[in-house]
Amino acid sequence: MIPTVARITGTGRGLPSRIFTNDDFASIGIETSDEWIMERTGIHERRIASDTETTCWMAATASRQAMARAGVTAGEIDAIILSTATPDRLLPATAVDLQAELGATRAAAFDISAACSGWLYGLTVAEGMIASGAIDTALVVGAEKMSAIIDWKDRSTCVLFGDGSGAVVLQRNKSGERAGILSTFMRSDGCLANLLYRPDGGAAHPMTPEILENRTHLVKMAGREVFKHAVREMSEAADRALDSAKLRAADIDLLIPHQANTRIIEATAKHANISMDKVYVNVDRFGNTSSASIPIALDEVIEKKIVGPGSTVMMVAFGAGFTWASAIVRL
Ligand code: ACO
Repeated sequence: MIPTVARITGTGRGLPSRIFTNDDFASIGIETSDEWIMERTGIHERRIASDTETTCWMAATASRQAMARAGVTAGEIDAIILSTATPDRLLPATAVDLQAELGATRAAAFDISAACSGWLYGLTVAEGMIASGAIDTALVVGAEKMSAIIDWKDRSTCVLFGDGSGAVVLQRNKSGERAGILSTFMRSDGCLANLLYRPDGGAAHPMTPEILENRTHLVKMAGREVFKHAVREMSEAADRALDSAKLRAADIDLLIPHQANTRIIEATAKHANISMDKVYVNVDRFGNTSSASIPIALDEVIEKKIVGPGSTVMMVAFGAGFTWASAIVRL
């Protein structure tokens, strides 16, 4: 049996304290209902960060918990890979703010921009860096303050997203066991970028009063089109992860899909031939936290002992770009 390159040795999550329910939208003048949102998305509530609960703060909270559980100190971290679509500042990367906050003085630190698939992209990059011999220990974090970039006047998008962070410590597998990352897969299609994007405010169209007025610096989404692609690409990602790990659906103890929408989750599970009792869903409590959604869920299922040492977990994501990705890990 070939040992894996890297294994997850600790997980953590960092969530804002404020819970914003579907009924709370009425208080900010959004015409919607719990019934409409629940029926289409399965979301009942989400966390919304305060001014002090920054992307870096959420990332640091998740990271400290993951490091404590892994028994790793800040000085032992070789690389910090932070996936975010909502960096605290546009320059430098939020990963370096996290590096400074943790006091990880030996660590390289950089952000990954691959939207909701970003944390799985980060996990794959970290595994590659371990395989190359460049590093032994990585912190892989997904942290998102989606409330800062969604249009709170657009009811078709603002009801979908939430804030939060999840983190793992990934370390060289020295055990000789086949535990850790069994397979990964990443793909993208930039031809579809304009189905889910922030049109303006970047270097091509720097911020102007008109952009602010027209709100084109905020997230725009063609919901139905995104939905169709999400189902198709997440299904492909599940197939590829199983193929390259040489596993069958029956070998998977738990599927953790990106938490965007229960209908997308159910369609992905059906395609992968995995029954819903083996699928973890927390979108009802957190909404879509983009790249934080899978590591938050992973931390919850380990804490709740839904999975434990020896369990095989498949994770599948899809996001803006489009990007899609998957990984199978044995805990
Ligand atoms: N409350 C009440 N009514 C609403 C709301 C709301 N929050 N939002 C839209 N509506 C209305 C629309 O105005 C429209 O009314 P109309 O027919 O009078 O014009 C009607 O509801 C239907 O709107 P649709 O957009 O067609 O609704 P649909 O059934 O497609 O559901 C949804 C919308 C939930 C966004 C769905 O398309 C979806 O889930 N798409 C996937 C989105 C997603 O998950 N994206 C993230 C994945 S990738 C990532 O995570 C970055």
